[in-house]
Amino acid sequence: MRSRLPAALLLLLACLWRGAPRASELRQPPGRIAIIGAGIGGTSAAYFLRQKFGKDLQIDVFEKGTVGGRLATINVEGKDYEAGGSIIHPLNLHMKHFVKELGLSVPENHGGLMGIYNGDEFVFEESSWYIINILKLLWHYGLNPLRMNMWVEDILDKFMRIYRYQSHDYAFSSTEGLLHALGGNDFIQMLNQTIDETMQKAGFSQKFINEVVTPAMRINYGQGTNINGFVGAVSLAGVNSELWSVKGGNKLVCTGLLYASKAQFISGTVISVEERTRPKRTGGTVKLYEVSYNATSGPATAMYDIVLIATPLNRKMSSITFQNFNPAIPEVSNHYHQTVATFVHGCINASFFGYKDPSHFHLSGIFTTENTKLFINSLSVVSPVQNGQEELKQPIGPAIWKVFSKESLTKEQISLLFSSYDSVKEKKWLAYPHYTVPKKSPPLILHDRIYYLNSIEWAASAMEMSAIAAKNAALLSYHHWNGNMDMIDQEDLNEKLKTEL
Ligand SMILES: Cc1cc2nc3c(=O)[nH]c(=O)nc-3n(C[C@H](O)[C@H](O)[C@H](O)COP(=O)(O)OP(=O)(O)OC[C@H]3O[C@@H](n4cnc5c(N)ncnc54)[C@H](O)[C@@H]3O)c2cc1C
Ligand SMILES: *[C@@H]1O[C@H](CO)[C@@H](O)[C@H](O)[C@H]1NC(C)=O
Ligand SMILES: *[C@@H]1O[C@H](CO)[C@@H](O)[C@H](O)[C@H]1NC(C)=O
Ligand SMILES: *[C@@H]1O[C@H](CO)[C@@H](O)[C@H](O)[C@H]1NC(C)=O
Repeated sequence: MRSRLPAALLLLLACLWRGAPRASELRQPPGRIAIIGAGIGGTSAAYFLRQKFGKDLQIDVFEKGTVGGRLATINVEGKDYEAGGSIIHPLNLHMKHFVKELGLSVPENHGGLMGIYNGDEFVFEESSWYIINILKLLWHYGLNPLRMNMWVEDILDKFMRIYRYQSHDYAFSSTEGLLHALGGNDFIQMLNQTIDETMQKAGFSQKFINEVVTPAMRINYGQGTNINGFVGAVSLAGVNSELWSVKGGNKLVCTGLLYASKAQFISGTVISVEERTRPKRTGGTVKLYEVSYNATSGPATAMYDIVLIATPLNRKMSSITFQNFNPAIPEVSNHYHQTVATFVHGCINASFFGYKDPSHFHLSGIFTTENTKLFINSLSVVSPVQNGQEELKQPIGPAIWKVFSKESLTKEQISLLFSSYDSVKEKKWLAYPHYTVPKKSPPLILHDRIYYLNSIEWAASAMEMSAIAAKNAALLSYHHWNGNMDMIDQEDLNEKLKTEL
């Protein structure tokens, strides 16, 4: 005994000398993490978890369908087209980083002309002459379009703070907390009111809101201007930007991230997550999560230290139950909005859209305003994911049109929209939340070490939002595990990081 004392003393002195060890240096790293869902949220979470926790961690990614989830392509007459999430904003920095890191590329993009249809006539039609568009916009909406650009830019500037916070490893324990750190009470207020109210208060005209803002909401979220102000602004950010997508399909980002993260892919449906207490080899007990799933080879279970849920917790979409939790994990109510994407190879019926002389029709994108007699949200010519956008050779010649609607199109409706067509393919989605205000986002932390990424969709649903939630969950789980509470929910980060730089 006596001979060991000096050694212990030395060790103590050594510790004092270096300063007290942080909790992070004491805790064993986690052995296994489960991610449920291999969409962009789950696969980017695997990527970020690997970055944070290092190479020894076992990461299992469960997927009941195909990798990519709501990023998927559909084959129409031998070519693939984006059927789910399709466009990416130039300032979506995580998506941009993934594409670069994974060696993917972006096809060239020549946008066609678009028009806004109100059910009776076009209230706005783009011209191929830039100056004419400016004059038309001024004539119709005064300075509203210019002011909208500035308004959206201001929101985007604040939103971009997330990248600085995340690169400094800061995490947030709720979706509201994350938004508050970006844009303060203004952002929280936007979650509480509709985009219509938000823009009215900001001084935009009702005509502009109805004819320009509404169509953007309808094409991006299948809903009107009663969606929250934040998701509305996200939607408007796309209006005047050079939007892009990934050559070969956006879902390639997911397969790429899965591979890059060296995660183990498990094809199966997760049925339940249950808390279990297990004896430790070194004595005492440890709490683990048991994931039960139905694999192709039959039912199975596995134990994890941490679980990330990267799918909407909606009975129709995931149906995962949480068992033996005390207190019980609250049920998150989740109404997702149905959007149907129909791909039609055919010639548009210009007279349906009020054209007396169809040869004058030159649009390749038709947006719509709110009108109960309209059975579509939008209609646009699309290009295959392999090539860049091909220019529409003859405006009324045959092309592949992608139609968004709330319900499946009937044969009669298709033959109204198209003067002739030869193939139709449909993909029905529970696409994004059905937004109402005010609505609190579901919790991001469901239990000690269970994280719910898709909480963020209730602020706004987009690929980049899922990637942001993924990085946040990776950081949050890391800091929780290591007791770095000073990295979570910090106030005034924007000011703090300004002086730090
Ligand atoms: C038609 C449409 C158009 C869109 N347009 C755009 C756009 O232009 N730009 C944009 O940024 N975003 C767009 N979005 C939104 C975007 O696609 C989503 O926000 C994003 O893809 C969500 O990714 P995720 O990984 O969070 O969820 P998901 O992609 O839904 O991934 C969840 C995965 O979990 C799996 N899963 C579910 N339950 C279980 C279970 N029990 N066990 C195992 N696996 C399970 C599912 O099969 C799925 O693959 C669009 C969406 C749709 C549908
Ligand atoms: C937003 O609405 C919620 C729920 O109705 C309320 O609790 C909260 O105080 C509101 N926040 C703001 C900033 O108005
Ligand atoms: C598991 O999968 C099998 C075969 O696919 C199916 O018959 C069974 O009902 C599934 N079990 C559950 C609990 O979903
Ligand atoms: C085209 O639209 C017009 C006007 O709605 C409609 O009368 C006609 O039946 C449609 N179909 C064709 C093939 O012209």
